[in-house]
Amino acid sequence: QVLKEGSDLTFMERQLMQRLPVNQVKVVPGDADQSKDVKHLLGKEAAAILVQSFTDEPVVTVTGGSTMAAVADYLQPVEGVKPLFVPARGGLGDLHEYQANSICVKMAHHANGQYRLLYVPDSIGEELHAKMQEEPTILEVLEKMNQADFVIHGIGDALTMAKRRKASESTVAKIAENGAVGESFGYYFDKNGKTVHRVNSIGLSLDRLKERSNIITVAGGKSKCEAISAYLKWGESDVLVIDEAIARHLLQ
Ligand code: G3H
Repeated sequence: QVLKEGSDLTFMERQLMQRLPVNQVKVVPGDADQSKDVKHLLGKEAAAILVQSFTDEPVVTVTGGSTMAAVADYLQPVEGVKPLFVPARGGLGDLHEYQANSICVKMAHHANGQYRLLYVPDSIGEELHAKMQEEPTILEVLEKMNQADFVIHGIGDALTMAKRRKASESTVAKIAENGAVGESFGYYFDKNGKTVHRVNSIGLSLDRLKERSNIITVAGGKSKCEAISAYLKWGESDVLVIDEAIARHLLQ
């Protein structure tokens, strides 16, 4: 039974690699919405994929969320490698342990690396937003983020993320009216991959994301099916680490 399951997953990975604009696909068994163990499996596989290409002093930029927190749990030191982790965006109005800053600290701790933090709240006014980007300490982190050797990120269902981050009623209405299905890097996008809203925070922009290579996308759970399909039209990914529930949806 285990062997059959393994070969089914390998078959799905091959099929997906032919159909999707990515270089590598890893599928773990199950549905992350149904079991926490599946999220841990996603974290374990993504952590292994991330460190396998590490050399010297790699810079890794990372987003927030429970999936990234699971990746952090499984990171391990690599001999002779001193990675630097930088958040891909400022605060999220999210739970502390799901904020990109907190995840960077945890990743650095587990991988015997270093971290830089971005202390910039979400949804600050435009003027302050522009001024903060001129701050030398923030500029330094932004530079590292924009030139990172690796990007690792999660994807959320649009409305789930907006509610979890306590977005205003008008923002939730805007997101819903414009048909947003997914969220990543603080952008909300519709099923055709069109941005419908961006949180006013400092972080990796879509343009900068598209310039990067070694982008690892990690997501699981049937509730994120549409979000992931949409992300593949909106953003960029080199390696997709997903669960079986999403893999089956993408193959339909
Ligand atoms: O930006 C989206 C979030 O990273 C996804 O959060 O991993 O807790 O579902 P999650």
